[in-house]
Amino acid sequence: MIDLRSDTVTCPTDGMWNAMHKAAVGDDVFGEDLGLIALEEKVADLFGMEKGVFVPSGTMGNQIGLKVHTQPADEVIIDENAHIFHSEGAAAGLISGIQLRPLSGDRGVLNTTLVRSAIRNRNDWDPRTRVVALENSSNKGGGTCYPIHVMRELYQLTRERELALHLDGARIWNAAVATGTELREYGAVCDTISVCFSKGLGAPVGSMLLGKEKVIKKARRFRKILGGGMRQAGMLAAAASYALDHHFEKLEEDHRKAKKLAEAVAGSTCFHIDPDHVETNIVLFRVTRGTVDEALAWFESQDVAMIPFGGDTIRATFHFQISDQELETALRAVDSYKGE
Ligand SMILES: Cc1ncc(COP(=O)(O)O)c(C=O)c1O
Repeated sequence: MIDLRSDTVTCPTDGMWNAMHKAAVGDDVFGEDLGLIALEEKVADLFGMEKGVFVPSGTMGNQIGLKVHTQPADEVIIDENAHIFHSEGAAAGLISGIQLRPLSGDRGVLNTTLVRSAIRNRNDWDPRTRVVALENSSNKGGGTCYPIHVMRELYQLTRERELALHLDGARIWNAAVATGTELREYGAVCDTISVCFSKGLGAPVGSMLLGKEKVIKKARRFRKILGGGMRQAGMLAAAASYALDHHFEKLEEDHRKAKKLAEAVAGSTCFHIDPDHVETNIVLFRVTRGTVDEALAWFESQDVAMIPFGGDTIRATFHFQISDQELETALRAVDSYKGE
């Protein structure tokens, strides 16, 4: 099956297994896993941030990111498409006792006009706006990216209003490649960033929260409280490090393939998409003839797996384990769908 359901479905390559096999390990709760310490230093340095803490998942990275900036009854400004809002089980309420304030951005991307108008006053009855949380690239937005100047403007606004800026950078790697932005430029405009190694980079497990030393010290404590303190995690760090060294450069190929699929979809009378909206590895398209279930069943019969993405929308996501030949099969499946 050609698995376009997600970029989380990749399996370790021989090279990655080899790196994991040779990993330096120790007990990371005691701060003794040299492989993990090296990865935290490497990624913090890539973003020009002071420190990093390795966590098991992007969800934990985001939730600790919110926790370190907030007190119960605070409010977080966020786009209505955000993963934190839709797909983290209302964890912000459960873990931090905070409220999310979803705004209607442009395919997952906010701007200063929207955010400024949502910052609360300081009356007794107002929730306290404390954090602006961005997602780059935006998953539900269709892999859309923030232009770095928009992030800079938002960061400036958060400085003026004494707010923290958290970035869900699960796919920041894709955004960096697609927009030609240096990772350090993102680091310069965020208080915390959660990055994932287990999406397009292709590591089996792992994310990292980045920020100032004081903030990450606090984060390490919350990670332990949440049960995310790992012991010999150096083998996971080795996979993440290998993924950074060998798979980061392949993301451009994923974007090229996603664009090709988008163009094929645009050429079909059974689907709707604006191929210009496809900026990275995610392709969202609407089914205009037949149903989503029928279209997915057709793709499956052609050996191509995609997922329903709400309403009449389907998502296809590219990763480095999809070959050009497999892309051709997916293109043929799109061309041959008749919607009856
Ligand atoms: C944008 C975004 N943020 C965070 C996450 C959460 O990552 P995890 O599944 O590792 O918890 C995902 C997962 O798909 C995501 O797409």
